[in-house]
Amino acid sequence: MKKILITGGAGFIGSHVVRRFVTNYPTYQLFNLDALTYAGNLENIADIEHLPNYTFVKGDITDADFITAFFQKEQFEGVIHLAAESHVDRSITDPLAFVKTNVIGTMNLLNAAREIWKNDFAGKRFYHISTDEVYGSLGSTDLFTETTPYDPNSPYSASKASSDHFVRAYGETYGLPYVITNCSNNYGPNHFPEKLIPLFIHNIITNKPLPVYGDGKYTRDWLYVLDHAIAIDLVFHQGGNHETYNIGGFNEWQNIDLVKLLCQKMDKKLGRMPGTSSQLITYVKDRPGHDLRYAIDASKINTELGWKPSVTFEEGLEQTIDWYLNNEVWLQHVTSGDYQKYYEKQYS
Ligand code: NAD
Ligand code: DAU
Repeated sequence: MKKILITGGAGFIGSHVVRRFVTNYPTYQLFNLDALTYAGNLENIADIEHLPNYTFVKGDITDADFITAFFQKEQFEGVIHLAAESHVDRSITDPLAFVKTNVIGTMNLLNAAREIWKNDFAGKRFYHISTDEVYGSLGSTDLFTETTPYDPNSPYSASKASSDHFVRAYGETYGLPYVITNCSNNYGPNHFPEKLIPLFIHNIITNKPLPVYGDGKYTRDWLYVLDHAIAIDLVFHQGGNHETYNIGGFNEWQNIDLVKLLCQKMDKKLGRMPGTSSQLITYVKDRPGHDLRYAIDASKINTELGWKPSVTFEEGLEQTIDWYLNNEVWLQHVTSGDYQKYYEKQYS
């Protein structure tokens, strides 16, 4: 059986990717390596843990000795690397944590892959999952393409940009077979409630203020997480060696419009009077270095690999809201303990 390592598979996107690979590829032996930080949650993948082609390993990608030994033992043929510190606001308060995991952690994986593959790169692939934030901030009309110069503005995006550069450098210098994708904002089930959509769903349920940064006119391009998982599957199997692909939802929203839509939908779902949830909207101090607009030109992955989003925003948002309303226990578990401390510090 072909051994494939997925890192960060207990997190938001990783859990959907792991599920897709474990269920769609019974001839692969899938290893999910995750340190189970605050963002990692085994409840996200409890439904697949019994499957015979799946193994969970708790481990930290910043631990070079562990990673080296792990690769030597398992002799992976493919790596799909999602493990990361992923929240921009946390990167502003603790940038070094992002350097450690996103840069050093990625380096450890690259070194270990290079070491076990050095005599034969045939059939091997290092797939690095990145973000559109590495391109910086857009004006009102242009789009990020694969050749847009990197111009990161937050410690998070700087750390992701750095890791992307190292992946490319290992390809150029050592011939390591790699592929990179840069995706826009994901949303959907299992999204940790520190990010805009799940945070606001949680706050609406619990009648807490909805903290909109600045004037709320910042724009993001939203993609349903299962469509990202489909794209990752396609790129892993059919993407060109040493290529990068942008992935996006063709779905731009100013934050304030998105929040108002969410409020309307939540009022209906919760049986509240129209206009109830929007009263919770509170404009708060802006995020430092806040990127004005992200928007992806996903035509390369569309023309070369035939991928496009399959879920409309309307459908995706409905499914997401329903998921949170039906998974109260999940929400309670992830919003207890340290989450409360984070929330106080970030929003007090
Ligand atoms: P997440 O924060 O939900 O999950 C990250 C996972 O990585 C968690 O399970 C965590 O436990 C694990 N992890 C963190 N540090 C680790 C370490 N040192 N060793 C091992 N595991 C560790 O993140 P996400 O939103 O699912 O993002 C996954 C990847 O996709 C990231 O690389 C992120 O940069 C990228 N990405 C995210 C989005 C988005 O909208 N969420 C968009 C584009 C790209
Ligand atoms: O673009 C891809 C990126 O999308 C990923 O690489 C990141 O991992 C992911 O976290 C996300 O980054 P953003 O910063 O765009 O997502 P976030 O949900 O934190 O914020 C979305 C927008 O909403 C942004 O303009 C900031 C704003 N916002 C966010 C929060 C948490 C608010 O106005 N209030 C909030 O409380």
